[in-house]
Amino acid sequence: MKDYSKYFNGPSLKEARSRGKEDIKHIENAFEIPPDMVNIGQGQFYHIKTYGCQANERDSETLAGILEMMGYQPTDDIHKANVVLLNTCAVRENAEEKVFGKIGYLKTVKKTNPNIIFGICGCMTQEEVVVNKILAKYPQVDMIFGTHNLHRLPQLLKSAMLEKEMVLEVWSKEGDVIENLPSHRASKTKAWVNIMYGCNKFCTYCIVPYTRGKERSRLKEEILDEVRQLVADGYQEITLLGQNVNSYGLDLDEDYSFANLLEDVAKTGIPRIRFTTSHPWDFTEAMADVIAKYDNIMPYIHLPVQSGNSEVLKTMGRKYTREQYLALFDMLKRKIPGVAITTDIIVGFPNETDEQFEHTLDVVRYCKYDNAFTFIFSARPGTPASRMHDSIDMETKRKRLAKLNKTWNDLALEKNKAYVGRTVTVLVDGLSKKNEKVYSGYTDTQKLVNFKGENIQPGDFVEVKITEAKSFSLDGVAV
Ligand code: SAH
Ligand code: SF4
Ligand code: F3S
Repeated sequence: MKDYSKYFNGPSLKEARSRGKEDIKHIENAFEIPPDMVNIGQGQFYHIKTYGCQANERDSETLAGILEMMGYQPTDDIHKANVVLLNTCAVRENAEEKVFGKIGYLKTVKKTNPNIIFGICGCMTQEEVVVNKILAKYPQVDMIFGTHNLHRLPQLLKSAMLEKEMVLEVWSKEGDVIENLPSHRASKTKAWVNIMYGCNKFCTYCIVPYTRGKERSRLKEEILDEVRQLVADGYQEITLLGQNVNSYGLDLDEDYSFANLLEDVAKTGIPRIRFTTSHPWDFTEAMADVIAKYDNIMPYIHLPVQSGNSEVLKTMGRKYTREQYLALFDMLKRKIPGVAITTDIIVGFPNETDEQFEHTLDVVRYCKYDNAFTFIFSARPGTPASRMHDSIDMETKRKRLAKLNKTWNDLALEKNKAYVGRTVTVLVDGLSKKNEKVYSGYTDTQKLVNFKGENIQPGDFVEVKITEAKSFSLDGVAV
């Protein structure tokens, strides 16, 4: 066995679990490019592959911005790239398997281009099992860094260029908010805006609190400045991001909540505002009132239920019961006219009985979600649920997933059918990825609409008459 002790900069889940009392520092000047790295990328290309959630999408925009500041240009062609980064996700085992597949493939890329610098970052690198595996088996990797030290990319790249050994820098414990990072946004119409980082909820199945550190909010001025700049740059939509946006501000001294922030963001006049994710636990009536009050806050809420059975919810550490969830659901439907609600559900949590699973189906039938993201439980190393004995076999779990999907799909189709004949406002993304003869975009309720029309540009708001409904999208014509 190789001695890894010299890699003192590796991750530790144990350290990542602790939540210290130290103050959160908001740092304006942590990012710098060493003088000899300023133009290092002139005439060269970078390629970033992003896995996982919007937090990673946004981080990749930051990484792109940093690389472009050093002169690199983007490329979709991995063979043309001089720097390749994989921004990884650890939330389920199959997400990790995909990444390892890609790392394997990069060995062949490196054979044809030995000078390529190949880096792995994102949530997987926060896990010691992953880092140890890469160190032991994947020498084609030049650089490993974590979710807390993206801003150190210029320094890490420099070390990777100079050193023969793999460069490893992963910080496990983080209490800082780093501001003033460059970014290259993926869209010119819709933008992600981080409002907070990390998670303190520690749902028993979930790795995110370990990979993203403790909850820490950005200062409201930083967020509002960013939004105002996006308005000035012509953006039509922003999505406020956090693992649990309802906790916004709880770590700051000011008496300023997510409802306050939402209201101030609405007042900037940006045409469309979304936010994700909101945990049912601390969703307040004040938030619902603000959403209902402002036309530019979209009537769309992602409200993960995870399970419809109170005992399972308790074991998951979700801190609400089935009844509390349904009461919240009813309150939102009552207060916000036409609100669309979507959800996340896990089936096959350790020892979930058939009856408990049926309770989840009951909730799905009651809520008739507009969309649902459904998963089979995946044991994540280091989490409490991964240590629970599990009596349910995979075959049963797969059957439950199929039944759940059929249930919500059928109901979503029914809901979508109610749109047929109606005219809706669509914010256009561009030509449809699947069919270049039609445009695509989203309604205020986040329904994907594919439609025919002429002289339409990305970023336009178009009135579309809906002609046909499917489970996952609507078809229509511009009017
Ligand atoms: N912060 C968000 C969730 C982020 S992870 C929230 O609490 O709503 C996105 C989804 O992945 C979760 O809602 C959950 O449904 C799913 N998920 C997380 N960990 C999982 C695991 N170990 N196995 C299966 N699904 C998981
Ligand atoms: Fe994971 Fe729960 Fe935090 Fe969401 S709230 S990121 S599911 S621990
Ligand atoms: Fe995955 Fe990390 Fe997001 S684990 S879901 S990329 S926070």
